Amino acid sequence: MGLLDGKTALITGAARGIGKAVALKFAEEGADVAFTDLVIDEVAQQTVEELKAFGHKVKAYASNAASFDETHSTVEQVLSDFGRIDILVNNAGITRDGLMLRMEEAQWDAVIGVNLKSAFNFIHAVTPVMAKQRGGSIISMSSVVGEHGNAGQCNYSASKAGLIGLTKSIAKEMGPRGIRANCIAPGFIISDMTAAMPDDVREAWVKTIPLRRGGTVEEVAKVALFLASDLASYVSGQVVNCCGAMSC
Ligand code: NAI
Repeated sequence: MGLLDGKTALITGAARGIGKAVALKFAEEGADVAFTDLVIDEVAQQTVEELKAFGHKVKAYASNAASFDETHSTVEQVLSDFGRIDILVNNAGITRDGLMLRMEEAQWDAVIGVNLKSAFNFIHAVTPVMAKQRGGSIISMSSVVGEHGNAGQCNYSASKAGLIGLTKSIAKEMGPRGIRANCIAPGFIISDMTAAMPDDVREAWVKTIPLRRGGTVEEVAKVALFLASDLASYVSGQVVNCCGAMSC
């Protein structure tokens, strides 16, 4: 018996990285999994195959999380394919780092669109469904820099702080309908996103982590499993840090 037997999860940006690890963990625990990414290419197809090995229903959707219209039609499609949505994970995210003095409007708009507006888009589309079902769990991937800020990431930090405010408001607004909303704030997690950092920047980050290593995507996925499942039935409006004590 799995912790998510009979549940359907929708995870954004899950072709690779943390989203993929969350999808695999959810499928391992019995969930049917719908996931999105910008394109459904070979990498995403490979993820579909790995998920299918758990024997539950799986489907991938090409969908730009920053687009209000696309996300709403994706949610309609998922509903027609799966019949319900119990868990939403707002995971899609990008970085466009730069110091404020040099940051261009396009860098700001891109990051706010993909990291923050995307969560509004999906929550807006999914909450009526969850309200009708009288329950659901919404998880949004924030970041420790959304709590503490980070030089060179004013756009990214603002987007991740915004997710926390959005989540706390949704927890209050939708709690009476049985919907829980929480954020995960990962610290430094080994993925394509952090692999793109220059070596010296990456090493400097690792030195600031009391556990003296980056986290794995599986370690974040285990926190997502907790928040998605009934183990967290009285946990809502919270930010759970997964950061090796980098931020405490
Ligand atoms: P990643 O870059 O490995 O994966 C992100 C996925 O999102 C990719 O598959 C990408 O194609 C997809 N994506 C990008 N734009 C999209 C869009 N407009 N619509 C749909 N999908 C889109 O990143 P990673 O590391 O797995 O990060 C996942 C989430 O966790 C992000 O929100 C990130 O900000 C957050 N996070 C990651 C940390 C880390 O250290 N890796 C630390 C803190 C937070």
